[in-house]
Amino acid sequence: MNIKEIISKITIEEKFSLLSGRTNWDTAPVERLGIPSISLSDGPHGVRKDFNAANTVSEDGTIKPTWDTDLAGYNGLSYAYKATCFPTASAMSATWNTEMVEEVGKALGEECAALNVDIILGPGTNIKRTPLCGRNFEYFSEDPYLSGELSAAYINGVQSKGIGTSLKHFAGNNQEFDRGDISSEIDIRTLREIYLRPFEIAIKKAKPWTVMCAYNRLNGIYCAENKFLLNDMLKEEFGFEGLVVSDWWAVKDRAKSLKGSLDLEMPVNDKSMTVLKTAYKKGEISDEEINSALERVLKIVFKASEGKSSRGKEYDATKHHELARRAASEAITLLKNEDEVLPVTKEKVKKIAVIGEFARQPIIQGGGSACLTPMEVDSALDRIIELAGTDIEVDFAAAYSVWAAFPGVERLGKAMELAADADVAIVFVGESQKVEAEAFDRFNIKLSPDMENIILRVAAQNPNTVVVIEAGSAIDMSAWIHKVKGVVFSWFGGEAVGSAIADILFGLTNPSGKLAETFPLKLEDTPAFGTYPGNGFAVSYTEGIMVGYRYYDSYEKEVLFPFGHGLSYTNFEYSDLKITPDTPLIADEVKVSFKVKNIGKVQGKETVQIYVNDKACRTLRPNKELKAFTKIDLQPGEEKQVEFTLNREAFEYFNVNLNSWYIESGNFQIQIGSSSRDIRLKGKVFIKGEKDFS
Ligand code: BGC
Repeated sequence: MNIKEIISKITIEEKFSLLSGRTNWDTAPVERLGIPSISLSDGPHGVRKDFNAANTVSEDGTIKPTWDTDLAGYNGLSYAYKATCFPTASAMSATWNTEMVEEVGKALGEECAALNVDIILGPGTNIKRTPLCGRNFEYFSEDPYLSGELSAAYINGVQSKGIGTSLKHFAGNNQEFDRGDISSEIDIRTLREIYLRPFEIAIKKAKPWTVMCAYNRLNGIYCAENKFLLNDMLKEEFGFEGLVVSDWWAVKDRAKSLKGSLDLEMPVNDKSMTVLKTAYKKGEISDEEINSALERVLKIVFKASEGKSSRGKEYDATKHHELARRAASEAITLLKNEDEVLPVTKEKVKKIAVIGEFARQPIIQGGGSACLTPMEVDSALDRIIELAGTDIEVDFAAAYSVWAAFPGVERLGKAMELAADADVAIVFVGESQKVEAEAFDRFNIKLSPDMENIILRVAAQNPNTVVVIEAGSAIDMSAWIHKVKGVVFSWFGGEAVGSAIADILFGLTNPSGKLAETFPLKLEDTPAFGTYPGNGFAVSYTEGIMVGYRYYDSYEKEVLFPFGHGLSYTNFEYSDLKITPDTPLIADEVKVSFKVKNIGKVQGKETVQIYVNDKACRTLRPNKELKAFTKIDLQPGEEKQVEFTLNREAFEYFNVNLNSWYIESGNFQIQIGSSSRDIRLKGKVFIKGEKDFS
């Protein structure tokens, strides 16, 4: 039976039953019409399939009282099946490697298939408006282009395995505080250029099966009821063909949400059937509205179930762990390396003091619905000891416990002694899942006073102190950065991050991670400071398009580490910029080419970033907007030619007077950088736009 036939035979009650979940994690079946149920699970950086949801019924029919520890475990939120914990989105974005993200996506797809999950609830592509947002670890970047490209890669990877994705949280969910009711007040240009843009890119490039609406209101209207957002923008303009699912319990009124173009409410909601029936009787919802949602739901339900028979049922967990380790290796970002304190070599170092429990038990992910039960977790300390071998002595002091970061004086005493006696002191610090998590925001962007204290006290004992930070979001390091020689940011790097960190410390891996978000000097410098978190009713995005580096770079604000920054153990030289044609028309494609050479002694990867600056525009535009990037691998002495094609999207902005995308004639500067503040090559191109003011 095709969907049209089903719709002609289905009762109104059956229709309504299909428009809300049956349980927390699956949709309702209608057996007489051959409509199966499909299951959804979190996401994004691993599969969190609830153990209870898996029908763990014993042969005699009783529910098992305990769980099988080989199969599942408690992750701080729920009992869930074990799955590979990959680096979280903020770490994945630091790889700047779309192929790597796609490969992780494929692995996620395989794990979903093995766990009988049809749709994984990710990726999260909300823009990092403020570093305080508790879920920044689940999001990619402050830049819409980078977020959109990485989301598309993730979706393509997962969906290539016959599993669906849920691009979330649509839209304007840029803080957790008050997220259930707050109205994000965002003007149309800012919406189009910044907050909707990553969704638009991912939808057009990768066609996610589902998009999840956000909890908050957007310009006064709940996203779950927002027809402008869900219909006019998403379905009509972006051409989204899948189904719109609510965030869990985001629907306040199922009838209003149906009118607002929300197709599937999740999870189960006992009231919805009555609400829909009453509204239908009163003529408040039409057959057309009901059928339109139903068609989208059925299309995805059948798509998921048709693919089921061809899906793999098993995956190679060892291979996935190895992939998680490779991904973490590319994400880890070397922020500071004074006097080349890193890498540790046996020529320079005879004794290392490793300080901090996180060296033994790393923080691999943030808290909340994304938090899954990992397969196995690597310890950085074990790998450090292995790599040190017999040449280097390694001493360890825990200094604090993972659960309460209050180091007793005695424990810190041992750490101080070890630090004073070593050639290098490596201090592991970070933020726990209780600090960076869903449903609340951080209060500030500093490490806890205890963590800062440990760094300062170790640094006072040892001039060669290196700090390894395990956190999901930007950190203010002003209290201690000048006292230490090295800073390695490992992000929430997934289950294999421990060994990946050690490989970087010892130079087995040359670091290549770069920041996908600016690290400000302090919270007060951030563009949303003063308007975040709003007055309880609304939060005004008055900084407009000036988000992240767009703000810091346009207004020349000093930052701790700029967008795109990340050091390597080698150096790269950029040369030979060519831009053709000289005077393109708007429809022309601008070709940018240049060379990058590894001029150091070790192999390394460099992420090159292309920024465009509309020099002469009469409307305010940021002095830098990322429009292309790529990561290249170079052996010592090797040189590669890099080529990009920029199209009109690289030059246009959203003109509110015309209510359309628009290019003003004039010179555009093309900036090729190793970071947004380390521009190596510049060139210009004259673009003939829609309007010429000269
Ligand atoms: C989160 C979503 C998540 C859903 C299901 C919500 O609270 O906002 O991101 O996918 O729960 O766990």
